[in-house]
Amino acid sequence: MAPLNIDYSTIVKIHAPATVANMVCGFDVLGFAVNDPYDEMQIRFSATPGITIINDDEYNLPTDPEKNVAGAALLAMMEEINEPVGFELTIKKNIKPGSGVGSSAASAAGAVVAANKLMQHPFNNEDLVRFAMNGEKLASGVKHADNIAPCIYGGVTLIRSIFPLDIVALNAPPLFVSIVHPQIEVRTADARSILQQKVLLKDAIKQWGNIAGLVAGLLKEDYDLIGRSLEDVLIEPVRSILIPGFDLIKQKAKEAGALGGGISGSGPSIFMLSKTQATANQVAEAMHQVYEQLSLDHHTYVTTVNHAGVRFVE
Ligand code: HSE
Repeated sequence: MAPLNIDYSTIVKIHAPATVANMVCGFDVLGFAVNDPYDEMQIRFSATPGITIINDDEYNLPTDPEKNVAGAALLAMMEEINEPVGFELTIKKNIKPGSGVGSSAASAAGAVVAANKLMQHPFNNEDLVRFAMNGEKLASGVKHADNIAPCIYGGVTLIRSIFPLDIVALNAPPLFVSIVHPQIEVRTADARSILQQKVLLKDAIKQWGNIAGLVAGLLKEDYDLIGRSLEDVLIEPVRSILIPGFDLIKQKAKEAGALGGGISGSGPSIFMLSKTQATANQVAEAMHQVYEQLSLDHHTYVTTVNHAGVRFVE
């Protein structure tokens, strides 16, 4: 790597988008970025080598870089920089931790994308995914890239493999996304620990049929095929017990016109895809009504697929 050109006056500011991992049937292999919500971060060089983290939000996340997902990602990046360097990173999280829309990924991916720009791009996107996965390891116990990759690349991504990394950006037709976030926290590590380690062949056949169908549906812009393929026979039956009202939300959302949907990442958020903004609004309203009846605090979002990934802002 070429020696760094360190300019202490440069500040890089970014928006790191929320992401929906799994896309129902593609556990750990599919994910997409959305335009709302997003975290706001800024980074600059610091004269003190190492990482200084400043939290500019209400979440009281750790500022020790080894215990912070953004810090863990930056530490992995710094191992491949051949000179002492210091970063000061300020994080304003708008994506609530534990919400299931890639909060940890936004922090980790945002940090390395911003640092890379500050250093004038010594690393490529695949390197950045590799570094950012260390944040996911800290958050959930395992490396997975189905939030990180769409956060960095934008759009819908297929993670064919993480060792070695093989990321495929997928074209997709316009999709509107309704998300409901019940105000409960589900830790990804817990949601992973309840999964069975073995699956039945008949279930695996259904699942890979759906993954292939979903990818084909996206590429062919076939909304019916996308809708039919949004089915998960492996993970959802286990995890949905952690999410109050899950089955009713799904039923009401489909009645309101959604193509389909399910648990966002490891939950508790639930997402639904629709063909039009008007339908997505009706779907969000239907989901909101279910939680109103259950008297469960919640937030709803109607958004679209974000094709840019992490954005640089002035
Ligand atoms: N694929 C991961 C999981 C995503 O479902 O555990 C976590 O956001």
